[in-house]
Amino acid sequence: MCNFEAFCFLSLGLFASVKGAVPPPCDSEIYCTGSILHQVQEAKLFGDDKHFVDMKLRSAPDDVLSAFRNLSSKFPNTSIPPVKLREFLNTSFDQPGTEFESWTPPDWHEKPNFLSGIADDKLREWAEKIHGLWKSLGRKIHSDVKDHPELYSQIYTPHPVVVPGGRFRELYYWDSYWVINGLLLSEMTDTAHGMIQNFLYLVNRYGFVPNGGRIYYERRSQPPFLTLMVESYYQATKDKEFLRAALPVLEVEYQFWMQNRSVDLALNGKEHVLNRYYVEVGLPRPESYTDDLELAEGLTDGKKEQLWMDLNAGAESGWDFTSRWYTADGGDNSGTLRDTRTSQILPADLNALLCRNEKTLASFHRLLGDSDSAAVYDQAAARRLEAIESVLWDAERGAWFDYNLMTRSKNFEFYPSNLGPIWAQCYSQPEMGEKAVQYLKGSGALQFPNGVPTSLRESGQQWDYPNAWPPLQHMLIDGFSKLPSEDAKKLAFDLAQRWIKTNWLAYIKYEAMFEKYDVNGDGKPGGGGEYEVQLGFGWTNGVALQLLDQYGATLTSGGRRVCSGLLLPLVILARIMLQ
Ligand SMILES: *[C@@H]1O[C@H](CO)[C@@H](O)[C@H](O)[C@H]1NC(C)=O
Ligand SMILES: *[C@@H]1O[C@H](CO)[C@@H](O)[C@H](O)[C@H]1NC(C)=O
Ligand SMILES: *[C@@H]1O[C@H](CO)[C@@H](O)[C@H](O)[C@H]1NC(C)=O
Ligand SMILES: *[C@@H]1O[C@H](CO)[C@@H](O)[C@H](O)[C@H]1NC(C)=O
Repeated sequence: MCNFEAFCFLSLGLFASVKGAVPPPCDSEIYCTGSILHQVQEAKLFGDDKHFVDMKLRSAPDDVLSAFRNLSSKFPNTSIPPVKLREFLNTSFDQPGTEFESWTPPDWHEKPNFLSGIADDKLREWAEKIHGLWKSLGRKIHSDVKDHPELYSQIYTPHPVVVPGGRFRELYYWDSYWVINGLLLSEMTDTAHGMIQNFLYLVNRYGFVPNGGRIYYERRSQPPFLTLMVESYYQATKDKEFLRAALPVLEVEYQFWMQNRSVDLALNGKEHVLNRYYVEVGLPRPESYTDDLELAEGLTDGKKEQLWMDLNAGAESGWDFTSRWYTADGGDNSGTLRDTRTSQILPADLNALLCRNEKTLASFHRLLGDSDSAAVYDQAAARRLEAIESVLWDAERGAWFDYNLMTRSKNFEFYPSNLGPIWAQCYSQPEMGEKAVQYLKGSGALQFPNGVPTSLRESGQQWDYPNAWPPLQHMLIDGFSKLPSEDAKKLAFDLAQRWIKTNWLAYIKYEAMFEKYDVNGDGKPGGGGEYEVQLGFGWTNGVALQLLDQYGATLTSGGRRVCSGLLLPLVILARIMLQ
């Protein structure tokens, strides 16, 4: 193990020795590197850089490369004119989306049971519509992708998927956790099973789960939720054989996070291991190519590579992008996107999630009768807990804060992720839960009518104020609802009511579910960042269904609170009667 200086020295040494050898996003000379990608993206022929890298090749990659060389030779020393590029694209590529067949999940059926637990008529009708959206988000990959993978950026996976929606027309990793929980409520066990099988297939192929189902995502991951997907599925089905088959694959993913995404850190004379997001890709992201290129303009080659690695790591975190990952010259979060230093930060939520993974892996081994292996993961969770409490917990403020390896200090700004250990139930003292409730109340983040913002800093990035995201709302609500105090439970319900009201009001206005919402206004979709707000939307639907299930007896479409003193016994009665 080494201390911080040694770590810094090591990683700088690594940068120097592998400079120029940092792998590209993928090995394709069309989709991930090379002159076609560069010229087509720089010509800005489409509104979104993701358009080109989702197009299918009409002939073998070598033929397309050679046709492009022919074309280039007609324009020595200058870039190819846009009209000629369009012609080339017309002859060599198909439009995006041709790799999918429309697919209606065969296990979809009307009136799943959970609907009957929703007391408010309007909310129940709306929940039924959300349940109906699974039909439009189902996708099956065309068999040609399996037979001719070289013609596609799409990664073949054997089972159909439910996609997020909009520009996100393929499978995504952490989104799928909330989608799968929604599918399980919708009694679509086969679809959920297939999605999990796809992720297990990806771990077997890559050694980890890529960010999403495209080759340009294949060298970065996303927050590791696969173990918890398996947990949800097991809780719904009690299928021990499935658990037995999945467990070794889950362990391979866990090893990836521990071998490829961990940092040794010495603090106050103790050594700890904690995790970070870290992607060894020092090039622009193909799907956001010109954004990344422009952002790095004027930097030295070394700084460019560092910025692109940190943007890739930002995408791996799922929070792309946010002032949370900035480290400006003064060491604070006041900078701009160019100050993104994701890989220098040990995130509170990632470490809470891995703690929960460790405890869940231990419980799986216990269920299958292997107490020795269970003990290994129990010990890993205990070590993690100690590291989290030594490095991230702040007793005075009552929450957990990201640790910055550059400034060697915690970041005390507000993010819902500061409460990740509550959600993960990864803390040692009961009073930490109560302190966390007080922290949230004093944070200034509860003053908004529509939900808890992603931060209190308005950076223009989408994972910042004023946007509120479904998974973060759900993690807060789920965490607080499991604390013992009435105060915490009431806060959880309150947040659920606000969120449902926001989703519902926006649905009435736009007849759509959005990927994110604005914490102000009357049902307003979120904004900012690299692309337009997207509709669909997988995780939004999953979170709404879970809240409508958890609090169905009490939530109202009007957002009015009925006297809860009278209501609570009624709710309990209703719950008992429903079982
Ligand atoms: C490229 O040009 C050469 C020479 O003109 C020609 O033989 C070849 O067929 C062309 N290749 C493609 C793919 O158009
Ligand atoms: C292209 O540039 C090279 C050297 O950079 C030069 O020798 C050649 O004449 C140029 N060709 C044209 C057509 O301008
Ligand atoms: C490319 O194809 C589209 C429709 O398929 C057509 O509208 C467009 O004019 C074509 N462009 C060129 C440059 O051939
Ligand atoms: C993880 O790191 C090891 C080297 O420590 C490397 O050999 C391996 O390829 C990496 N795994 C992945 C999936 O990137």
